[in-house]
Amino acid sequence: MKSLNIVILAAGKGTRMHSDKPKVLHTLAGKPLLQHVLDCAVTLQPKQICVVYGHGGSAVPVAMQRYAASFVIQEPQLGTGHAVQQAMPHLDDASLTMVLFGDVPLIQADTLQRMQQTGAGLVLLTVNLENPTGYGRIVRNKKGDILSIVEEKDASAEQRKISEVNTGILLAPTRLLRNWLANLQNKNIQGEYYLTDIVSMAVEQGVVVHSIQPAREWEIHGINSKSQLAVLERIWQHVEASKLLTSGVTLADPARIDVRGKLTCGRDVEIDVGCIFEGEVNLGDNVHVGAYSIIKNASVAQGTQILPYSLIDSSKVGANCHIGPYARLRPGTKLHDDAHVGNFVEIKNSEIGQGSKANHLSYIGDSTVGSRVNIGAGTITCNYDGANKHRTIIEDDAFIGSDTQLVAPVRVGKGATIGAGSTITRDTSDGELTLSRSKQVSISGWKRPAKKK
Ligand code: UD1
Ligand code: CA
Repeated sequence: MKSLNIVILAAGKGTRMHSDKPKVLHTLAGKPLLQHVLDCAVTLQPKQICVVYGHGGSAVPVAMQRYAASFVIQEPQLGTGHAVQQAMPHLDDASLTMVLFGDVPLIQADTLQRMQQTGAGLVLLTVNLENPTGYGRIVRNKKGDILSIVEEKDASAEQRKISEVNTGILLAPTRLLRNWLANLQNKNIQGEYYLTDIVSMAVEQGVVVHSIQPAREWEIHGINSKSQLAVLERIWQHVEASKLLTSGVTLADPARIDVRGKLTCGRDVEIDVGCIFEGEVNLGDNVHVGAYSIIKNASVAQGTQILPYSLIDSSKVGANCHIGPYARLRPGTKLHDDAHVGNFVEIKNSEIGQGSKANHLSYIGDSTVGSRVNIGAGTITCNYDGANKHRTIIEDDAFIGSDTQLVAPVRVGKGATIGAGSTITRDTSDGELTLSRSKQVSISGWKRPAKKK
């Protein structure tokens, strides 16, 4: 196959988004529109990617700087043909050039590969729409050969009845494209340099014009408004949910899950309604995720039960753990197998050993907790002195009584017990009971103050 240049048009203003942010930086499934297109483009292994941007100053190149692409500004924006002209100095004539749109985010690589396999000439991606309003129409002769593309605004009443439309995505030999673009004129209703005019030029020169249709209509949906964005988001989430169902995941309701990244599931995974998965998430066999949980960049090993309303961020969870309801695992949390983290427990940058439990109302930060430890309700690690963070170490088999404060840096010894309500400021010995509260006394004859009548 011939090598490839990819030009991505992203200079449009996006007026109908009513936003200060460039249109192509709005997100679908948690990722900027343009990034969807770039990620797809990269899989075709092009020699060159060139993004044509216009609005938002350097916001677009800065947001996409991780990509090996060149960015050219189009100022002013005089049409799609003019936009591609800006990219031409970056493209080599030996390769084919593919044009993609930065606001058509869900185009898929297999469709573009079929365009590449089509052979010499100009290849257009077209689609038949029930309602073709607004699109350029594909004009063919009686034999069915493509003759030209006519824009809606320039079309006759007869041409407007054509249901086959231009998606805007095309593939052309670069040397021919360069010549055609140099000859574009803007004698049309909109006074723009139309990229679509290259079609009739190709026909005049006897260059074959092919058409390919996408397997799925959503691939070519463009975004011009927040409502179109919301519609395409739902379509995409439905696609994600269908993939999960097909692979054997149980979803309580496929219409109520959001995957904003890559979710990988083992066998017999069950996901209740309203859950959000962000970044890269791995769920092992038999993991259950309760309603309205949010899991981001995390792995959860087999058999773990996550109860409703739990948040897990940048954490590693072992097998057969119980989490939630209302638990919060912040970045750097590692739970070993069989750990229990209950309601209103927050854990940050800490390791919790096998079989250890913190079941109620606790904060555990910057801590290393051994195996079989019981952390009583209301226990707080005081890890911050106003300037520095310090570590708390709790050895295996320790028992921390309820409402204890552990003032770090501090170590609780192996098998040690801390009496409820203690403030622990010094390391405690292995196997012993440590308390730091005053003895209970009763004062005989004491009277509660009474209200004066
Ligand atoms: C274009 C096509 C039309 C097709 C439709 C599909 C032309 C003349 N028409 O029309 O046949 O059916 O797309 O959606 O090509 N852009 C720039 N610079 C510009 C103008 C546009 O970068 O000066 C970019 C936009 O950001 C957008 C894309 O090109 O990503 C299409 O522009 P838009 O104005 O939406 O084109 P349409 O008039 O819809
Ligand atoms: Ca458009």
